[in-house]
Amino acid sequence: MRFFLDTANLEEIREAAAWGVVDGVTTNPSLVAREGDLSFRERVKAIADIVAGPVSAEAVSLEGEAMLREARELALLSPHVVVKIPMTPEGMGVVRTLSREGRATNVTLVFSVNQALLAAAAGATYVSPFVGRLDDTGQDGMGLVREIVSAFRAGSVTTRVLAASVRHPRHVAEAALAGADVVTLPFKVLKQIFHHPLTEKGIASFVADWESYRSRHGDRA
Ligand code: E4P
Repeated sequence: MRFFLDTANLEEIREAAAWGVVDGVTTNPSLVAREGDLSFRERVKAIADIVAGPVSAEAVSLEGEAMLREARELALLSPHVVVKIPMTPEGMGVVRTLSREGRATNVTLVFSVNQALLAAAAGATYVSPFVGRLDDTGQDGMGLVREIVSAFRAGSVTTRVLAASVRHPRHVAEAALAGADVVTLPFKVLKQIFHHPLTEKGIASFVADWESYRSRHGDRA
């Protein structure tokens, strides 16, 4: 399973990219709205320069032709751009056209297996089930990821399953166990999953033992 970072914040992306585990970035209009300074398009280009991997940038128009125009403009910003399209009938028409043009797409706001199948039928590159938002309503978000993975396997579907709306470290491990191809993580969750108290304890005792060895052996250590 690959890791994407779910943020539009350039500092977070730079820091996480240096850790060597992030292959791409997902943004959405709400994440972009939290940031300042750069225009949306400048931000997408800057992100693509940092990660040099798939960068999801969302089209906000809802009407088909406007959405397609916007999607094509976004795709021209960088070869790494994956155009994010909402799960609507108009959106799937746009995904079909983009797919025929060889452009990568990520169908977002997916909350059912049927929606995922529709996205795949339209030719989506990625489909994004929103795990946390389903959990918030009392439903089983990770169960949906599991079902989409099974349905895609049963039908030999090549659309990749991207587990989104991740809220905590357990979601990450569960997404991998469910068979997701990618999980997109908020920066906070990415930082959390590096840590384990026994790792920190082990490092502290290795450092202390090494210091004691060096103080006893000096230059011969
Ligand atoms: C995914 O691409 C979305 O940007 C994101 O995961 C949504 O997460 P949220 O439900 O925490 O807003």
